[in-house]
Amino acid sequence: MSLAIDDPTPSAPECADDGTWLACIECGETFAPFEDVRYTCDECDGLLEVRYADPPTFEDFGDGADSEGPDRGVWRYREALPFDLGVTLPEGDTPLHRVPRIEEAVGVETLRIKHEGMNPTGSFKDRGMTVGVRVAKELGVGALACASTGNTSAALAAYGGRGDMRTLVLLPQGKVAAGKIAQASLHGARILEVDGNFDACLDIVQELAARGEVYLLNSLNPFRLEGQKTIGFEILEEFHADHGVYPDRIVLPVGNAGNTSAIYKGFRELVQSGALEPEDVPKLTGVQAEGAAPMVEAIEEGNDEVRRWEQVETRATAIRIGNPVNAPKALPGIRNTGGTAVAVSDVEITAAQRHLAGEGVGVEPASAASLAGLKKLRRRGVVADDERVVCLTTGHLLKDPDAAYEAGGDPEPVPNDVDAVIDYLDG
Ligand code: F0G
Repeated sequence: MSLAIDDPTPSAPECADDGTWLACIECGETFAPFEDVRYTCDECDGLLEVRYADPPTFEDFGDGADSEGPDRGVWRYREALPFDLGVTLPEGDTPLHRVPRIEEAVGVETLRIKHEGMNPTGSFKDRGMTVGVRVAKELGVGALACASTGNTSAALAAYGGRGDMRTLVLLPQGKVAAGKIAQASLHGARILEVDGNFDACLDIVQELAARGEVYLLNSLNPFRLEGQKTIGFEILEEFHADHGVYPDRIVLPVGNAGNTSAIYKGFRELVQSGALEPEDVPKLTGVQAEGAAPMVEAIEEGNDEVRRWEQVETRATAIRIGNPVNAPKALPGIRNTGGTAVAVSDVEITAAQRHLAGEGVGVEPASAASLAGLKKLRRRGVVADDERVVCLTTGHLLKDPDAAYEAGGDPEPVPNDVDAVIDYLDG
């Protein structure tokens, strides 16, 4: 399977349920979507993708949908999703900030920041969970689980709580930001801290899921990516409404490469329906931290597969990942759109985090990687000065208060006296 931008609309196999089915991206095998719990292909273990006989046009969104429902947020796109409504808080409809000073400094025609930190639990994961937990209900499973660098666990706990389901999360010990653990804990997840990195946590939870103990809601689950593809729909709609064109490029942080895969999938569906020309698909440009950059390595070396990095390290703990499980979907997404991938240092990430914060946009370190990557690609001349760019910021500043505190200035102690405060300010 090529996952080319202009693959034709697939015709529905016998197993389809109301025009929706699962297909293996490697061998093409198809499966009924909601009869059994399944994360990968029974035949070849390849990644699965949700497919539709009737891919959406822009006119199908919001009021244009066949069913009544929300006009904003993830479920605005219900015609492109397996259900009309999910377990919702609600999510999506995040701001596409203008940042004129950063735009000027970076030197591109247009720069907008799509701030996914403004979702209910403070990250884009909510978009995936609203669909994923709905599917879990359809399948009738009892307990939900994920491995996480933090944000997935926060979202799973909140949406599981909302859906009245038990939740279990596996976290890499000592490597998850404080805000995220606090969320998972208060929303009621059972939290297991594993003596290993994220990839090790995912290995364990995948095995638990394979043994039928839990329903897996990592981005390996194809339904989660359905929710996340709506990031791309929102970007296209809003950017076009403001600028009359689509962005040339979307720059995003990469960990497990779920977003890269999901956004690319959404664009392919719009191309299938004729709503979007293949040449109008934005170039997907992934950014990783230097200490955890297996996707960048694969793109730079032209490899068909991504090599798992056993040792990973970065201050941007959300993307401290050495084995991006969605790589077989994301590599075509980057390559077929004419995008690229770049690695940035922790110092560059912190500088970008400060830069965004200075213009009022508060993001966690992993999120700032997108802007740091754009700056680097401008310096290298890979991104041209006439490009219209959207940087995705994936999580809120308060997710990682320690990192924010370190990146910001120190509070200054002063006496409890107005004259002394004025003296201090003048001094
Ligand atoms: N940014 C943030 C803030 C994240 O939390 C993640 C992933 C990513 C970027 C990477 O996104 O995996 O789609 O490429 N966090 C996961 C988690 C792994 O467990 O919260 P991706």
